[in-house]
Amino acid sequence: MPPATPPPKDRLRLALQKSGRLSVDSLDLLNRCGIKVKAPKEKLLLHAENFPVDLLFVRDDDIPQLVMDGVCDLGIVGENVLEETALDRAADGETNPYVVERRLDFGGCRLALAVPEERPFTTLADLAGLRIATSYPRLTKRFFQEKGLKADVVTLTGSVEIAPRLGLADAICDLVATGSTLEANRLRAVETIFKSKATLIRCDRDLDPVKRHALDLLLRRIDGVQLAAEAKYIMLHAPKAALPEIKRLLPGAENPTLLPLAGDDTKVALHAVCQEAVFWETMESLKRAGASSILVLPIEKMML
Ligand code: PRP
Ligand code: ZN
Repeated sequence: MPPATPPPKDRLRLALQKSGRLSVDSLDLLNRCGIKVKAPKEKLLLHAENFPVDLLFVRDDDIPQLVMDGVCDLGIVGENVLEETALDRAADGETNPYVVERRLDFGGCRLALAVPEERPFTTLADLAGLRIATSYPRLTKRFFQEKGLKADVVTLTGSVEIAPRLGLADAICDLVATGSTLEANRLRAVETIFKSKATLIRCDRDLDPVKRHALDLLLRRIDGVQLAAEAKYIMLHAPKAALPEIKRLLPGAENPTLLPLAGDDTKVALHAVCQEAVFWETMESLKRAGASSILVLPIEKMML
């Protein structure tokens, strides 16, 4: 755990996972927000060159605590870790002074109960009284309590997936993203107890005006990046007569721009921003409706 020195008054301090599921995507998000850092991960603390933010690289499990205690202004962390920490602090009689600024569109995973492949399972009651290994004891216990079942929770900080093989537990409760860790360890998920994504959290204290301004700027950029992630710019040629049908087919597009086509009175060029993904199926439907020369372009940034 890094020393609990408060962040400077004029620069935001943002806690990020040093290595793990969220680290690459977190840095990628900052990168797409135009925030440049040199040689990430070599150091514990990095100063962005062109934005008043310093990045602190730590274990994800420490991030909620660092933010709630005010050691960092901001943190990017999975809701799973956040909720587990919040339950833990509440059990110790502590408050949870944080605000979720944005839910981010990466880091999707679920906390799931899993049993060895050969163990029969029909209902949750089959797990009652069994030893369940997890790094999320609070969430696991809460789930069993809500179901009115008894659980013998064994807390491990890592390598939970090998606990059944070592004879330390009968089942596990662990994060599943692609499912390959479970598969490699001959385990199968039987119940999801919590769904999670990455979030940007902020310490619930007043920020200095300079930092508040920087945060507003950062949030606007994050919104711009997230908005643009699915959005596409679409250009096509359309017979005037087919315009109503073609407009109806465009996913999440408002007010397309229509331009005359030189030398052809019966057709126009249509340009539109589609807020949703444009699939091959959509393009085929557009073509059937009479559209031609269909181009779909990615949008890098967006500000509404
Ligand atoms: C989680 C979990 C598994 C893995 C599952 O670890 O503990 O090991 O991800 O992913 P998969 O279904 O794609 O195989 P995480 O990266 O969150 O690291 P940590 O638990 O050590 O923080
Ligand atoms: Zn972790």
